[in-house]
Amino acid sequence: MTGELSPIDKAKFVAAKRAVDYVEDGMRVGLGTGSTAAWMVRCLGEMVRDDGLKIRGVPTSTRTAALAREVGIEVISLDEARWLDLTIDGADEFDGDLNLIKGGGGALLQEKIVATASDQMIVIADVGKEVESLGAFPLPIEVIPFGWQTTKALVEEMLISMDVLGRSVTLRMNGDTPFVTDEGNHILDLHLNRIGNARQLSMVLNQVPGVVENGLFIDICDVVIVGYGDGRVETRDINEGTVETDRLDFVENENLFTDLD
Ligand code: A5P
Repeated sequence: MTGELSPIDKAKFVAAKRAVDYVEDGMRVGLGTGSTAAWMVRCLGEMVRDDGLKIRGVPTSTRTAALAREVGIEVISLDEARWLDLTIDGADEFDGDLNLIKGGGGALLQEKIVATASDQMIVIADVGKEVESLGAFPLPIEVIPFGWQTTKALVEEMLISMDVLGRSVTLRMNGDTPFVTDEGNHILDLHLNRIGNARQLSMVLNQVPGVVENGLFIDICDVVIVGYGDGRVETRDINEGTVETDRLDFVENENLFTDLD
């Protein structure tokens, strides 16, 4: 089965596999959303089933909640957990300060709330997500449906005074209709190409009425685990200032590698 994985899937898998080493018995764990996070949920499910790991997971989307239940993880709400020991999630981009763009999968709002409510956030990513400066990936912002076109116009006007290289804003679609998030909102994708001051942009965006949250994660991530297609993993800890490298072997595992979406 593993022979069918592409190098990018192998990179995502090894990052996820290394990240679950941080999970201990009794922890309340935030479960991210996306293809990389899905590997992590599968790995945790295997540890629950085979090793008797006892954790409770707080998913960041309905998709992740369904997968977590499917693999045997006890799912609780954030309100039940109140505070989390650890959140593991993917990202669309990360820079040298471990600031992130997230929301490519449309789950940025729950992801940001859950990550912020955690003692530690670990991002798992293939090396292709690493950037010098954020912004090549369109920045998602979640907006309420009421008056979204007015919100879009306000955001476009605000961008004129921001240090960015592009200013086009598009409504994310799902076929012929606007994409709807788990919270019933829409997503605007900001095609900025390069963001000069991500911290300032994040603060200003959240002051626009109608904007619920933006996909810039500033000073939230503690550790990035970077996966490579050949099995190498690099663990970068921003608080410790350390970088560790390792190599993981792919072990064929029916439970993990079946039913891939
Ligand atoms: C979901 O809304 C996103 O924040 C994802 O974490 C991000 O898009 C990374 O997804 P992949 O792991 O599928 O690249």
